[in-house]
Amino acid sequence: MVDEYKIEDHDLVSRTIAMPADTNANGDIFGGWVLSQMDLGGAVLANKLSSTGRSVTVSVDSMSFINPIHVGDLVSCYAKLIKRGNTSMKIQIQIWTYNYISKTTTHVTHGVFTYVAINDEGKSAPLIP
Ligand SMILES: CC(C)(COP(=O)(O)OP(=O)(O)OC[C@H]1O[C@@H](n2cnc3c(N)ncnc32)[C@H](O)[C@@H]1OP(=O)(O)O)[C@@H](O)C(=O)NCCC(=O)NCCS
Repeated sequence: MVDEYKIEDHDLVSRTIAMPADTNANGDIFGGWVLSQMDLGGAVLANKLSSTGRSVTVSVDSMSFINPIHVGDLVSCYAKLIKRGNTSMKIQIQIWTYNYISKTTTHVTHGVFTYVAINDEGKSAPLIP
């Protein structure tokens, strides 16, 4: 457990099970799949905070892979707003896994992504008050 990456103050934004179709050549889960889970998870919170209900990712500010994900693991994504702009949001995103066989919980990734609320024309839009 990495103390600075507690999840108690984060929202649970997505949960799924890692499947064989998403493995890399080592048999672990492919990093691109993990990154996309984080992007989707962050978007769940970003859309909630957007006045229009829409947002786009504009930047992956940091990204760390700490441990591999294994097929069958429960993959939980957590998100927290760490900086609010006029239309932009910096969101810290973490993935933790639970292995049903060993009954262990593992911190897998953490990162900070920036999202921008957008309107119907694809232009930046305000956040909810
Ligand atoms: C998001 C987008 C509409 C912003 O357009 P823009 O003309 O740069 O808008 P603005 O200059 O008004 O910036 C809007 C906000 O985004 C922030 N921003 C824009 N680009 C950024 C970047 N690369 N990193 C961090 N913040 C960024 C600005 O700081 C500003 O924040 P604020 O309103 O909180 O002060 C435009 O960049 C875009 O469509 N990008 C493509 C997004 C995309 O396709 N993502 C991948 C698929 S989801």
